[in-house]
Amino acid sequence: MSNNPYESDELLQQYLVFHYARPEEQLTQKGGPAEALDFPKRCALEGLSLESIPNRGRALDLGCAVGRSTFELARSFGEVVGFDYSHAFIDSANVLKDQGLIKALRMDEGNSTTRLDLTIDPEIERNRVLFEQGDAQSIRQDIGEFDAVLACNLICRLPDPMRLLRRLPELVKPGGQLFITTPFTWLEEYTPKANWLTEDDEDSFSGLESALNPAFSLLDKWDMPFLIREHARKYQYTIAQASRWVRQI
Ligand SMILES: C[S@@+](CC[C@H](N)C(=O)[O-])C[C@H]1O[C@@H](n2cnc3c(N)ncnc32)[C@H](O)[C@@H]1O
Repeated sequence: MSNNPYESDELLQQYLVFHYARPEEQLTQKGGPAEALDFPKRCALEGLSLESIPNRGRALDLGCAVGRSTFELARSFGEVVGFDYSHAFIDSANVLKDQGLIKALRMDEGNSTTRLDLTIDPEIERNRVLFEQGDAQSIRQDIGEFDAVLACNLICRLPDPMRLLRRLPELVKPGGQLFITTPFTWLEEYTPKANWLTEDDEDSFSGLESALNPAFSLLDKWDMPFLIREHARKYQYTIAQASRWVRQI
């Protein structure tokens, strides 16, 4: 059995609900931070400045998990590749691609769960989407280049984020855009301390900027809250650092 937490059924159900359950199915208590819901959809729809991307041919969603932002990108791009290391996540994303529907168990309390039918908006052309299992630190050389790349809440889960950051200039076409979100939740169980992008006591964003310059220049930077339901009375509330970059010509 894998000890990757992203292969566990607990995280699979949690991520299916996080990505696809309706706001009122996720946040069932009154008064919670509703603006933090629908994070993967917001990443796809607000992360890029679509009107300034020269072509909207191909997009790549790195660390796509169960694929919500990948499907949302298909509203704007002709082909979208969702890429993730977790077989369990990619298998579920493929069920959603093939059937437009998946069943998930939402945790309520103790042994009590609610069965949800999760669906993809029928306006989204699901045949524009492809899901691929793989390691974002060693993406196959023949994957090609993209008009837009998303990497949402991925880099602080990689053992060596620099391996991906060094590859990004090859993946994004000149004039194309890169959207990164990260809460910089560095944990040694995922990333050895030496690889935390905080060398020379730089803060993590400065480390990210040094890694991406000069191939990319920063277009915009803002905070993006998100909410993951653990059960009816317990949620993870996090404020990710979002940044949009353009690949220099
Ligand atoms: C914190 S989740 C974020 C998922 C999604 N982007 C979102 O914002 O909901 C991190 C994701 O990165 C994936 N991941 C972890 N290591 C990876 C790697 N080496 N290559 C590709 N994906 C990876 C995990 O399987 C998981 O789906």
